[in-house]
Amino acid sequence: MIPALLLVAPASRVAVEYDWLFWSLVVVCGGVAVGIAAFVVYSAIHFHRRSENELPPQIKGSLKLEVTWSVVPLIIFLGMFAWGASLYFDIERPPANATEVYIVARQWMWKAQYLDGRREIDELHVPVGRPVKLIMTSQDVIHSFFVPAFRVKQDVLPDRYTTVWFQPSKPGKYHLFCAEYCGAKHSGMIGYIYAMEPREYALWLSQGAAEGSLASTGEKMFHQFGCANCHHFDGQGPCPDLKGLYLRPVLLTTGQTVVADESYIRESIVDPAAKIVAGFTNYMPVFKNVLTEDQLVELLAYIKAIGPAPGTQQPSSAGSVPATYGGQPGISGSGPAGISTDQSRAH
Ligand code: CUA
Repeated sequence: MIPALLLVAPASRVAVEYDWLFWSLVVVCGGVAVGIAAFVVYSAIHFHRRSENELPPQIKGSLKLEVTWSVVPLIIFLGMFAWGASLYFDIERPPANATEVYIVARQWMWKAQYLDGRREIDELHVPVGRPVKLIMTSQDVIHSFFVPAFRVKQDVLPDRYTTVWFQPSKPGKYHLFCAEYCGAKHSGMIGYIYAMEPREYALWLSQGAAEGSLASTGEKMFHQFGCANCHHFDGQGPCPDLKGLYLRPVLLTTGQTVVADESYIRESIVDPAAKIVAGFTNYMPVFKNVLTEDQLVELLAYIKAIGPAPGTQQPSSAGSVPATYGGQPGISGSGPAGISTDQSRAH
């Protein structure tokens, strides 16, 4: 197949669709360009002036021709737009059941943190046939997460989270590149993605994480930094109740409503005065340059895990994660990161 000679073989569901769209555009645009060029050359030869005083017959135009060359391209362009837009929405909207992995980029490495607590550098292990959502931030400058085989590229920015998702379709080892010039060793900021069969992945995942889950580490910090002293889970504290906060709309003192996504939660930790929840006064210390990006990810994982379960009490000690913590919505069970089904099959 010709495309395989020019592009890395696609290894994710979106990559296959992306290639179809890409090559269709190349064929349509290339065909039109070649057709027009050929017609120009043909006309230049066939209709050239044969004598100095030759007057060609005057043409007044053709309605049929003009309607045809307006309507046909319009239909083709709208078709391309609809196809591209539907693929774009697909790429931009991670499925709700995606396995979440946090990525912290820094000069010059990629650090991956899994929900179960496992961590790795310049390597990422993912299951085949399952959607994987990466929640990424940078500790210093702008980097860009680029996996050619998955046809995904996403800038990784300091002070906020960006996400990208993919669903590997073939087991294998795939190149990961930084696609944004980020300093002297930018070219060395590379790594590998290992796409594994779900069973192997479950086995791999079970071999790590001696330190406890990301959320439980975050819970320890929640107590260590005194967050729990003010953020009570019964709604009676002097600071906003964080229970079920994630993705909830929050009304601010400015009258504006924002959705409590990862970037909002992060901003509220590092710069609490930036957005103040309506009905509250800001007493919170600034955590900018106090917590590392890795710690912020842990705290974020904990805050996202504080589910809206009824009767949840203020956690008395670190180490226990609320019952709603299951890796992702819609999948219950004890298996890490939504692979409980396969894990139970493996036993
Ligand atoms: Cu990181 Cu280039």
